[in-house]
Amino acid sequence: MSDLKFSEKGMQHYEWLLTRYPDKQAALLPTLRIAEEEFGNLGVPEMKYVADLMGISPARVFGVVTFYTHFRRAGTGTYHIQVCSTLSCALRGSQEVCDHVAKRLGIEVGETTEDGLFTLSKVECLGSCDTAPMFQLNDDYHENLTLQDVDGIIEECRQEAARGGAR
Ligand code: FES
Repeated sequence: MSDLKFSEKGMQHYEWLLTRYPDKQAALLPTLRIAEEEFGNLGVPEMKYVADLMGISPARVFGVVTFYTHFRRAGTGTYHIQVCSTLSCALRGSQEVCDHVAKRLGIEVGETTEDGLFTLSKVECLGSCDTAPMFQLNDDYHENLTLQDVDGIIEECRQEAARGGAR
């Protein structure tokens, strides 16, 4: 049996959420956000905890977590780069950006670097089409990207991690 549990603050947030939705199932997405904040990522034990907490099936939780790209799943690197590949970004060079990130990191889309520092994903529109091409790095948007910007961002991440400041 897992000893995963929301903190008191997390539980208070969850209980507050339940007052804002018509039923527990409707509160699944924001509850998963709390789980992500509490546990760092969403693996099988974390999804099972949420399912037990909410009284819904683990399969439903798994289905929701794997449907959306914005949840941080188990095994994701410290820095998760999600390159938008939808039309506006595609027209403005997102494939080139994605290929450049992949080359710089020595990984393919969907992979994590051996040191666990970076994960690269391709995602659908992130709602910042007027600043294409762009990617999301953890919670932050990086917009109007040039390949030079990409190099600088990756380098900043590496330096931050070396200082022990990541996340
Ligand atoms: S198409 Fe890339 S943010 Fe919308």
